Parts: sequence; C-alpha cells; structure tokens
Amino acid sequence: MSRYAYVNGRYLPFRDAKVHVEDRGYQFADAVYEVCEVRAGHLIDERRHLDRLERSLHAIRLSLPMSRAALGVVLREVAARNRIRFGMVYLQIGRGVARRDLAFPMPQPAPSVVVTARALNRARLDALAAAGIAVVSVPDNRWGRVDIKSVGLLPNALARQAAIEQGAREAWFIDKSGAVTEGASANAWIVSGESKLVTRRADHAILGGITRSVLFEAVEAQGLVIEERPFALEEAYAAREAFITSATQNVMPVVRIDGRTIGDGKPGPVATALRREFHRFAESS
Ligand code: PDD
Repeated sequence: MSRYAYVNGRYLPFRDAKVHVEDRGYQFADAVYEVCEVRAGHLIDERRHLDRLERSLHAIRLSLPMSRAALGVVLREVAARNRIRFGMVYLQIGRGVARRDLAFPMPQPAPSVVVTARALNRARLDALAAAGIAVVSVPDNRWGRVDIKSVGLLPNALARQAAIEQGAREAWFIDKSGAVTEGASANAWIVSGESKLVTRRADHAILGGITRSVLFEAVEAQGLVIEERPFALEEAYAAREAFITSATQNVMPVVRIDGRTIGDGKPGPVATALRREFHRFAESS
C-alpha cells in the first residue's frame, strides 16, 4: 500500500515527503511531537494530546501553526489516506528552516509541520501483553526538561537499543538517587506490597503521559489507590506487579526487570484489568 504524509500544507506520497537540510528539527531537534493512538479509525484522546502539544510548543516558544480544529482535520486525513484502522498518527512541529545558527531565526520562518501515520499490529501487542515484557535499567542521562515532548530522543534511542541487545523490549531510566524515572518511550508503574499503584509525579523529570493521566481515572473507578512518588529500582524488583503505559502500547505488563522475575513472572491482575478497562476512560473522536 502506498503511504501518505502531510508536509507543510501538502499531502504527499511517502517518497516525496521530505524536509529541508536546514530544518531546525533535523539540525537541532528544535521541534516537538505527539503520538496519538488510532483505534477503529478514531483518534484516541485527541483533546489531551493537543493540550500537551500546546504546552510543549509554549515551552520552546512556538505557538500552534493552525487552529486545533484544522490540526485535527489533518491528523484524521492522514490516518484515513493511509487506511489506518488500528495504529498511530505522528505529528511533529518545529521552528522551521533557517541558516544554521543556534539563536532563533529572525524574522521567524514558517514552522515545519509533518504528520505521518502507520498501522500497528494489534494481535502482536496483545500477545506481548498476555506474556508480559522484559525491561532493563539504564542511567537517566537525559536533559532536565523531558516533560517537553521534544524530538531530541538520542538518549532514548540508545537506551532502547541497549534493552534490545539484552533481550528486553524497553529500558527504564534510573536517576542519580537510584529511582526509576520512566521508560524510553513509556511511563513506569509498579504495584506495591500494599497493592497501591506507584508512579512518579509528573514533574520535569518525566513526560506527563496521556495514557498515564487517563489511567488515573480508571484506577479510581476500580477502587485502587495511586501513590505519586519516586520508587527505587530495588522496590521495583520486589513489586507485586510492574507495567508501562503509552499511547501505542496502552497498559503493558512487565514481568522481568534486569533479569529478575517480577511477582510470579506473569502479567498481574491489576495491570491486566487496567489494560482491559483503559478505553472506557479514553476519549474517541
Ligand atoms: N511515547 N515517556 C516517554 C519518554 C515517552 O516517549 C512516552 C510516549 C510516554 C508515554 O506518553 P503517552 O502516554 O502520552 O503516549 C512517556 C510515544 C508513544 C512515542 O514516542 O512513540
């Protein structure tokens, strides 16, 4: 199937979907992005993703290049042109094209806007969730503002590669105090001995995941209690359950951390129930 992308105002076949060599997103990672799940042809949690996009743009001193409604039309159009039923749309907005210089270009160039979409193998993700995944810990060597969803993902790429080379699917970043911050592309959670859900507070040290925030509502509905606090890697090793959350993986149980078995080595009841319930709380549009 031929694929289409939206690039700066035009829908183009993939082979023609190109950005300039002096695009600041390409040269400096001077750009932010969003990834939205597509489910049964609908965008999941568009409103929350666009809210976060606006926060990221504001943090790097850019503003939305078009109305939220227009952006929503583009996201849907790219999903539709690629015939995505289950998958994701990717949106990137950057400071645009200018002569290579760190300072913001003046006058301000037109921002770069790119949207792509691709299908996800739902059966494979469900099979992974049924078996649970392995993660490995790596030092968190990222910058101090990872709450901004910037395309500067080199530490994340290196962490993910380290995980794969050790037979795991995801890496968990560990801060200088020995606490887990989050995964290379997902938030990290554990279920404590007292059956409380523990996840780090959404400050500058993690990305405030949309899946994470929707899950807060699902957790309350199940009568479970959340503790927003850092948790040490040692505490994770001894946890009843562990899991990660992201737009493309939903709730994904973790059954091994650094080769140690978590709980009884199978996806636990809490993670399994939350994965099943998640979309009752998410918005579909
Ligand atoms: N990743 N933390 C990091 C570092 C992430 O990159 C992501 C998302 C999350 C979870 O956020 P959300 O629930 O909003 O997807 C947490 C996306 C999916 C990606 O980069 O592909």
